[in-house]
Amino acid sequence: MSKPNLGRLAVIGAGKMGEALITGLVDHGAIRLAEIVATAQRPERLAWLSDELGVESCSNNAEAVADADLVLLCVKPQIASEVLAEIGPALTTNQVVLSIIAGLSTEKIEKMLSVDLDEPLEVPVVRAMPNTPSRIGVGMTAVCGGRFAGEQHLRLGEEIFSAVGRALVLEEKYFDAVTGLSASGTAFIYIVIEALAEGGVKVGLPRKVATELAAQTCLGAGKMVLETGDHPALLKDEVTTPAGCTMDGILALEAGGLRVTLINAVVEARRRAAELVD
Ligand SMILES: NC(=O)c1ccc[n+]([C@@H]2O[C@H](COP(=O)([O-])OP(=O)(O)OC[C@H]3O[C@@H](n4cnc5c(N)ncnc54)[C@H](OP(=O)(O)O)[C@@H]3O)[C@@H](O)[C@H]2O)c1
Repeated sequence: MSKPNLGRLAVIGAGKMGEALITGLVDHGAIRLAEIVATAQRPERLAWLSDELGVESCSNNAEAVADADLVLLCVKPQIASEVLAEIGPALTTNQVVLSIIAGLSTEKIEKMLSVDLDEPLEVPVVRAMPNTPSRIGVGMTAVCGGRFAGEQHLRLGEEIFSAVGRALVLEEKYFDAVTGLSASGTAFIYIVIEALAEGGVKVGLPRKVATELAAQTCLGAGKMVLETGDHPALLKDEVTTPAGCTMDGILALEAGGLRVTLINAVVEARRRAAELVD
């Protein structure tokens, strides 16, 4: 993926995700620390952002966005309306707003930005749904655009999140499904890793070893699917020798309903994501 030309970046609410994105983009060579201003609430966080991370920090969101080309919204959903109303009057239509706020649609973002304005602000809004592994550079992010976002804004969003993992452009109607699969899915896989490790402990492995074996096995299986492009069923068949041990394991797994349970987990998480939106 090419390096995005970000110009000056304002990160509004530079907590865990904001920090991960700053680090990912700087490490990727997409932007220099000197081109970033970040906001937070607590004085100690602001001091850390400037003294340790090395960006300009500021507690005034409207001031922070004034000179920015790109505004990255990383505050919690509960305070989004307040913060968006604050920055709306300081924005122009030449800027790009990129939000990672879970559950907040581009339509709502556009409305919240315009709440204190006489005319609706026709600013390009890009919405992204990353997951927690973005914090260590192996995230999965879906990106979509609002009413005023063009192809170039979607590509910019895709390039930004490629700095912290994989990213793809997807229609906004799929975002609850993405939440149910790749965002909530990390928790499902932690449980799978924990359970595999318990199996290892049950058959005599030390817990630390069992956890390492289980985690690397999940990582390797995921990479095999992505890098070979082969269907997971084909890769599974490669491991399954006739009358061998894997087949006995698969029988136990199917009898326990793992496949249906995981399908239901995604369906339920997606259902709940849709409830959270309003
Ligand atoms: N964590 C994830 O993996 C993940 C995945 C997908 C989406 N998201 C979304 O990403 C967003 C951030 O999540 P997070 O985990 O990074 O949360 P977080 O660590 O709590 O970061 C939120 C940041 O917002 C700052 N803040 C609070 N009030 C503010 C205000 N009025 N003005 C400016 N900044 C303010 C906080 O400052 P202080 O530090 O000073 O309190 C904090 O640094 C959320 O909307 C979440 O839905 C997160």
